[in-house]
Amino acid sequence: MTDIRTLGEFIVEKQSDFPHASGELSSLLGSIKLAAKIVNREINKAGLVDITGAVGENNIQGEEQQKLDVYANDKFKAALEARDQVCGIASEEEDEAVAFHKPLNLNAKYVVLMDPLDGSSNIDVNVSVGTIFSIYRRVSPVGSPPTKEDFLQTGNQQVAAGYVIYGSSTMLVYTTGNGVHGFTYDPSLGSFCLSHENMTIPQDGVIYSINEGNYIRFPTGVKQYIKYCQEAVPEEKRPYTSRYIGSLVADFHRNLLKGGIYLYPSTASYPNGKLRLLYECNPMAFIIEQAGGKATNGFQRILDIPPTELHQRVPFFVGSTNMVEKVEGFLREYP
Ligand code: AHG
Ligand code: MN
Ligand code: MN
Ligand code: MN
Repeated sequence: MTDIRTLGEFIVEKQSDFPHASGELSSLLGSIKLAAKIVNREINKAGLVDITGAVGENNIQGEEQQKLDVYANDKFKAALEARDQVCGIASEEEDEAVAFHKPLNLNAKYVVLMDPLDGSSNIDVNVSVGTIFSIYRRVSPVGSPPTKEDFLQTGNQQVAAGYVIYGSSTMLVYTTGNGVHGFTYDPSLGSFCLSHENMTIPQDGVIYSINEGNYIRFPTGVKQYIKYCQEAVPEEKRPYTSRYIGSLVADFHRNLLKGGIYLYPSTASYPNGKLRLLYECNPMAFIIEQAGGKATNGFQRILDIPPTELHQRVPFFVGSTNMVEKVEGFLREYP
């Protein structure tokens, strides 16, 4: 048999990569892996059984919750509670942080922040969606329920982050601060197998990803950058290619592999941008930096922004370093 390495084996092999006890990370990622498999199985049935469409409720952000948003949230929450490494979670689909109360959970050292289903409006039309997660060591004493401070840590304190993309194949990509590694799910084995070790993003790219429907109210610097992307300068490979799926995970994953930039600036509907700092931008920023790229709000490193609220939004520019720096230049020039 050829050299197949599962995610579980890989984590054990890379024990020294994790600043804390490797068994804990392995168990924690094990619960994420399990929930991802369950969600993957359900997503694959979309269209066959009654799992698409809206629940009829809005989440705290005023977004219409999809059945799969709720399903994925419940599965990830249950899987994280069942193992004893996590004392609480915060999620896009929960108004407040959720504390786990079993004695073993109270003694747990980690909190997880997550976007259980990213791009959920794409489910009904069979387009890739994802899950994003971010892991911190708690700052409150063990033995007690987690506090607000555990969840409102600055992104540079993350001990691990990752995403699952439910795409043409299902992949789990994660970092613990020692590179970015990707695993493809083999349904016949029921395992995530190492397929992309040490992923790096090209410093330059030719893909820009932005919802141009919001153009009229973009900041002038962003408008200037879009114009720059569209100009014909063949020796600089411009005009660039525009690609926008509408699932952050899928747009990010493509740009990570090929080189590119994803932009979600302030818009008329979202004056602070649409994406959420704690469970979308921070984990993706940690991953992109580990892959050699850059993530900013246009002026400041995402990972250095001190959070003030659980569901806080920030403008988000992420991808190939030179592309992100270019848009930052335009934003400085046209504030
Ligand atoms: P979610 O489905 O978790 O609420 O996230 C939606 C986000 C993100 O996935 C995507 O990049 C962005 O919303 C798309 O927004 P627009 O439809 O406004 O372009
Ligand atoms: Mn949503
Ligand atoms: Mn999302
Ligand atoms: Mn979501």
